[in-house]
Amino acid sequence: MSSLKVLVLHGPNLNLLGLREPEIYGSTTLQDINALLEADAATLDVSLHCFQSNHEGILVDKIQAARENFSGILINPAAYTHTSVALRDAFAAVSLPVVEVHLSNIHQREAFRHHSYIAPIAIGQICGFGAESYRLGLRALVQYLRT
Ligand code: DQA
Repeated sequence: MSSLKVLVLHGPNLNLLGLREPEIYGSTTLQDINALLEADAATLDVSLHCFQSNHEGILVDKIQAARENFSGILINPAAYTHTSVALRDAFAAVSLPVVEVHLSNIHQREAFRHHSYIAPIAIGQICGFGAESYRLGLRALVQYLRT
């Protein structure tokens, strides 16, 4: 059994993937994404814990609690990307490696989506590849953790 444990966090409204603006976010559901990531994690020999919340404070609590139990965090912060100093400060406080992902290419969309509070403290950001962004992000995080 691998010792690498990755926390996957999904921010607000991502529980509605599949129903929500499918022309932007596609028809893949959150359950589908988690299943794809679980399969990839098995291949990569890492363990995953996937969690979604619509609440900023609950995500902050999860990040704080991750300090003892996880090697790194993969997150789609959703709308909190563009608003949340609290999430950024939580990541900075635990100093765990973070990869930020988005389904859509946030840099091609409205100006308010171009700025991320998380990107400056993340290893990197992957966006625009739909559900593949998560899979690429997991691979990138695991590779980072192993080198
Ligand atoms: C998103 C992009 C954000 O701007 C938006 O608020 C989301 C989803 C994405 O995955 O493309 O909720 O993070």
